Amino acid sequence: MGPPPSSPPARSEPKTQPEIIPEVPALSDPTVIEPDTEDLDSTFGDNSDTSSYTASLLSEVRDYKYENGRRYHSYREGEYVLPNDDQEQDRQDLLHHVRNLMLNGALARAPLPRGPLRVLDVGTGTGIWAIDFADSRPDAEVIGTDLSPIQPTWIPPNLRFFVDDAESPWSFSQNQPFDYIHARDLGGAITDWPKLLNQAYDNVRPGGWVELQEFEVTLKSDDDTMKLAPTLCDFLKKLHEASEMFKKPMNIAEMHKQRMIEAGFESVQEEVYKVPCSGWPADPLLKEVGRYNQCSLMMAIESYSLALFTRVLGWSNEETQVFLAAVRKDVKNPRVHSYCVLHIVYGRKPAAA
Ligand SMILES: C[S@@+](CC[C@H](N)C(=O)[O-])C[C@H]1O[C@@H](n2cnc3c(N)ncnc32)[C@H](O)[C@@H]1O
Repeated sequence: MGPPPSSPPARSEPKTQPEIIPEVPALSDPTVIEPDTEDLDSTFGDNSDTSSYTASLLSEVRDYKYENGRRYHSYREGEYVLPNDDQEQDRQDLLHHVRNLMLNGALARAPLPRGPLRVLDVGTGTGIWAIDFADSRPDAEVIGTDLSPIQPTWIPPNLRFFVDDAESPWSFSQNQPFDYIHARDLGGAITDWPKLLNQAYDNVRPGGWVELQEFEVTLKSDDDTMKLAPTLCDFLKKLHEASEMFKKPMNIAEMHKQRMIEAGFESVQEEVYKVPCSGWPADPLLKEVGRYNQCSLMMAIESYSLALFTRVLGWSNEETQVFLAAVRKDVKNPRVHSYCVLHIVYGRKPAAA
């Protein structure tokens, strides 16, 4: 695919903007989260079962592939193992809400300056982050790229979406480097992270910021209750192994900080958050986060595993579904006080670069 047009959309006059980074409550405090011992309900009930594209290429990139009841991208077919259908889009939007709750609505943790910014969101998915960011900064020019053209058409005037493979050489105008590059939840999507970070470095202006947000592909508990969820633990291990075999590892969150340093970024900061996986915490905000996160996790189980287990591990759809049903049962167990670990890493390209 060719390069995205380099001419910027009409910008409104720069206005004085409020800071977009509100104070975040001290949720990254690594202290133990208190469980709510009165609340053994699970959200689902305890035992219930429960490079740009042109018009002529549009039909090609929308010629989606169907497999085992899920829909997958067609541009660079087979390169990405998560579906792009409505169910997966709902999951992405739900997880965006979980982050909003956790981060008190902060869309970026890097200390972005006020005033006009040129922003890139790599692997934008439904584009929900890019839309919110463009809305919150009307004087910014925001670009979102993805393998799938699943983004809405009614979008802020300062936002554009392009179909592009982030692993191919980037072809953005070198005359207009970005002020901020954002990439979120790309575990399982990228083979060569050092190359991706080098491209981000080359395409951000000196003094500009790059931010990566990623969850670990392990769930943890501080009170040893994860041992009550053995199938879930087994699932996460298999998922990690299958993604390694596919050469697009999922469990990469803990490597991001070091990789950013090695790519040449400075002032690299890492924030680590415990995001509860169900409504077990006593703290009302964390309880709400947990309830939404549990819904998102229930949807993630099939999204993340179906193609990997069937294409890479060689399981049948039926075998996979039986296993996933047992995994969901563990996710619904209210006695399991599990949390996901979210890493937010941001760093700046040296001003002298
Ligand atoms: C899990 S979703 C996350 C979406 C979005 N970043 C968010 O946080 O809501 C990952 C997205 O990355 C896209 N993706 C995967 N591989 C990609 C690639 N090589 N280049 C561009 N996008 C890619 C997928 O199509 C998918 O929409």
